[in-house]
Amino acid sequence: MISHLLITPSILSADLSRLQEEVASVEPYADWLQVDVMDGHFVPNLSFGAPLLKNLKTKLPLDIHLMVENPKDRIEEFTALGAYNITFHIEAVPDLEAQRALISLIKKKCKSVGVAINPDTPVSHIADLLKEVDLVLCMTVQPGFSGQKFREDVLQKIREVKKLAPNVMIQVDGGVDARTGKLCLEAGATNLVAATAIFGSKDRKAAIESLRGE
Ligand code: DX5
Repeated sequence: MISHLLITPSILSADLSRLQEEVASVEPYADWLQVDVMDGHFVPNLSFGAPLLKNLKTKLPLDIHLMVENPKDRIEEFTALGAYNITFHIEAVPDLEAQRALISLIKKKCKSVGVAINPDTPVSHIADLLKEVDLVLCMTVQPGFSGQKFREDVLQKIREVKKLAPNVMIQVDGGVDARTGKLCLEAGATNLVAATAIFGSKDRKAAIESLRGE
């Protein structure tokens, strides 16, 4: 059973011209650090890749959220950097054998592997993988941009995942702040990702503490 809540700042809203400083400002309070990788195809936006992280120094485990069409081609660059978790989108890999191959590829090099579902993707699409992954990411916005509105209808899916796989880490991402984060925790989430609520706030410690409900 996972009892410890993990808070995962997403650097999508950080000031990238001062990335090292931005990461240092959350490091004492956060648990993981999320890197949102977008390819301009799977999502209508482009972000960053492994080169951005090459010189970044952090003690936080790196959590790579791959919003790309061909996730298997992007694994090596992040495992080479020592990524702790890599999450791929189920919508990008429709074939079950390919999903399983990708999971074992990630597991060879990472401590943790995750599968993500978009807000409109039913939990049944990942049901066969629940015994094989460490983490399920329930997107509470359509991925691509930070600063979007939290979709409350996804709470039902969080409850569903919790019921089917009580030991899997449930991560939630999109429009998460102190209020919506609390709803996610009540539904069974164990890992809250936030970009705007953390990097949009001057006081990073207070922002992270409020996500913990402190
Ligand atoms: C959405 C990204 C999120 C995003 C969250 O495409 O996967 O990680 O940065 O941003 P906020 O917390 O601002 O909704």
